[in-house]
Amino acid sequence: MLLLHLQDIDEPRWKQRLSTLLGDYPVVLRSDTYHCDDIRYILAWKPYADAFDGLNNLKAILSSGAGVDGLLTHKNLPKNVPIVRFVDDELTQCMSDYVVANVTMHHRCHSRYRDDQLAKNWTQFYPPPAWDIRVGILGLGVLGLDAAKRLIGLGFDVRGWSRSKKIVDGLSSFSGADEFDAFLSDTDILVDLLPLTPETMGILNYENFSKLRTGRLKGGPALINAARGGHQKETDIVKALNDGTLGAASLDVFEVEPLPASSPLWSQKNCYVTPHIAAISNPQSGASYFARVIRDHEKGMPLINVVDVKRGY
Ligand code: NAP
Ligand code: GLV
Repeated sequence: MLLLHLQDIDEPRWKQRLSTLLGDYPVVLRSDTYHCDDIRYILAWKPYADAFDGLNNLKAILSSGAGVDGLLTHKNLPKNVPIVRFVDDELTQCMSDYVVANVTMHHRCHSRYRDDQLAKNWTQFYPPPAWDIRVGILGLGVLGLDAAKRLIGLGFDVRGWSRSKKIVDGLSSFSGADEFDAFLSDTDILVDLLPLTPETMGILNYENFSKLRTGRLKGGPALINAARGGHQKETDIVKALNDGTLGAASLDVFEVEPLPASSPLWSQKNCYVTPHIAAISNPQSGASYFARVIRDHEKGMPLINVVDVKRGY
């Protein structure tokens, strides 16, 4: 039996799709009647504290999101149960759409021309060609690599930072703590697509912003965070945007979500706020993916996209 435990998500739609695809295999919501002992799989997003209580026969925990930080930090996460995360072409495409839109916006000095328009100010300034702009991507996993390839295709000078080195045509690869500063030092637009782990928490801070390249992008380097709010120190972002250490920022994720009305980011100049919508999990493709995972596993095939709990992603 599959139990759905999805918060802030259209649970009935997922249930309907999964039930259709799984046929005889029962799918239940928390509000349905079932015996905990019968639950073999749980599909979870933002699980409550009691989400796993009594589920002693789990074969796998399925994460409806690509990021699993919410599961791995869950106080009662069952030990030794594999976690399968969502990896999906549509999610990847949507993330790359978000990254490309925001990189090109900052490259073409959108903030400056918007301000000029509001002030009815006709001042010609020509942004440099894409090949003169260096985009640095933090995280070269499923999402970071796809975004990198698309930006390379658009002519940008792209570099990436990950735990292990990558060999990709046209991409400069940096890895590990030793190469972090070198990675930052020539970056004009910093894109964050890292998972949230103890090592990556707070990585988007003032000290690191001040290591980015200045002088190439009008107004200062730009930051794009589409990964997790736990990476960013929001007081540092405000400070950096106000003193010119950063020229602009696009933030899709926040330390606290929904972003509180009291946050200065809502009205921060040169800061573009979106409500964690860069790439959501589509119930259509999500149900197909997880139905396949369950069917294959029930036939004895190995699970796919299993999270390395020790590594944290
Ligand atoms: P992934 O495939 O697991 O890739 C993670 C990448 O980060 C890998 O390249 C990994 O390096 C690198 N990394 C991890 N820890 C590192 C460290 N300490 N130092 C250097 N590099 C490190 O993850 P993904 O599928 O691309 O997703 C990335 C994140 O995007 C998710 O975890 C989630 O938080 C976020 N996300 C956000 C949205 C949204 O709507 N805003 C939607 C989906 C996902 P190696 O390659 O060497 O292992
Ligand atoms: C969304 O944030 C995800 O992790 O899929």
